[in-house]
Amino acid sequence: MKSTLLLSFLSISLASAFPSFKFIPEKSIPALPTGELSPIDVSGSHAFRPPSVQDQRGPCPALNALANHGYLPRNGIARVDELLEVSRAVLGFGIDFGCVAGSLTAAYASDEGLMTSIGGPVRGSFTFCVPRLSGTHNQFESDSSPTRGDSYLYHGDNYQAQEPYFESLAAKRNASGVIDFISHRIERYDDSVSKNPYFFYGPIDMVISTLVHLFIQGIMASFPASHPGGFFTADGLQTFFGFYPDTSGQPSYRPGYERIPDDWYRRPTDYTHVDAAPHLEALGMAAPRTMIPGGNMGTVNSFEPMDLTALTGGVYTEDTLFQGKNLRCFCFQVMQLATPEQVGAAAFLAGGSIADALEEWMCPELKGLNETMYEKYPGYKKVY
Ligand code: HEM
Ligand SMILES: *[C@@H]1O[C@H](CO)[C@@H](O)[C@H](O)[C@H]1NC(C)=O
Ligand SMILES: *[C@@H]1O[C@H](CO)[C@@H](O)[C@H](O)[C@H]1NC(C)=O
Repeated sequence: MKSTLLLSFLSISLASAFPSFKFIPEKSIPALPTGELSPIDVSGSHAFRPPSVQDQRGPCPALNALANHGYLPRNGIARVDELLEVSRAVLGFGIDFGCVAGSLTAAYASDEGLMTSIGGPVRGSFTFCVPRLSGTHNQFESDSSPTRGDSYLYHGDNYQAQEPYFESLAAKRNASGVIDFISHRIERYDDSVSKNPYFFYGPIDMVISTLVHLFIQGIMASFPASHPGGFFTADGLQTFFGFYPDTSGQPSYRPGYERIPDDWYRRPTDYTHVDAAPHLEALGMAAPRTMIPGGNMGTVNSFEPMDLTALTGGVYTEDTLFQGKNLRCFCFQVMQLATPEQVGAAAFLAGGSIADALEEWMCPELKGLNETMYEKYPGYKKVY
């Protein structure tokens, strides 16, 4: 029951800590121009500058890049709502995903003033530390990420890219500059199953680690009018992930040096659940195992899937999950349920769209997840 208790505790403490808490500022979020935009400004005050030793950088390549270009404060400390507004304005991160990412951050990784560090903990101005995204294992940070290592396998380092994972991602970029993110996702899942005895793939871990794979081609690619599906140059992909050629010309990692490529075009429209849903389904078709929560049992290759009937109170079963729109329903319901209530309510009102989408897709009602099922997985409880 750990997580249920934790969630209700957080809901209560968030509600009392912020009685008039407004997650999204009241001013409405301006509509974006449609059609071709100019490349994102990476000059002047938005020129790339690598972080100094005091500056915080963490698991999210996009937030690191935004800080390196001064779109977020260069020290890597920002208010949660600033993270999502800037992610949206500069990169095209849908407000629906922003609300979920922002409310998970607010619940697990921010102080009472909603300040967060995009990297490690920072001593605040008074007695407390500004919490940080790097330390949110199994709440936000999860195993089987595209380039970051699993906490257990890298002694708690779940925030730096691992070169082999990046190389393997880069190798999936074809001659049109498009990344086969589906095969990368499958590879990273299989790698965790076969190498990490404590691989934990709870519902929220499953959804988050899968979505961040989709964000690479869906958001980090460049979208000039000539490439409506988005594309990466080899260099663009490398620098966006903080890889630079070494003296022999091989890409080598500089932690925290994520850089927005020159001549990089943001998507003309935000990337939302509408864009992600068909890709989740494509993944479900290609490798259904990656869409079933579960975990290893303390040894490698001991993955036990969760019994979906027990997990969802019979709303979904192993047979029905892949029928109709059930898979997308399940994934977005998991996101909704994982979003702590107080923050979530405001967030979803502001974002609006996920709740509406669940209705439009005629999703069966999922009241909750049976979280006692997580307890048997050693990777769930393990504190790294
Ligand atoms: C409110 C804004 C955001 C927050 C709070 C946030 C937070 C995070 C966190 C905690 C992780 C680690 C998750 C894991 O371990 O799998 C992560 C990873 C990631 N995020 Fe973000 N993020 C935000 C915006 C974005 C945007 C706008 C993009 C796309 C341009 C993005 C792309 C990614 C990618 C690709 C990863 C996977 C990193 C890897 O393993 O290679 N994020 N983010
Ligand atoms: C690259 O992959 C995309 C998406 O699968 C495909 O549309 C495109 O034709 C591919 N390009 C080449 C040159 O193979
Ligand atoms: C919840 O999961 C536990 C542990 O797996 C199980 O014993 C219980 O029957 C489940 N509850 C429901 C309502 O399915």
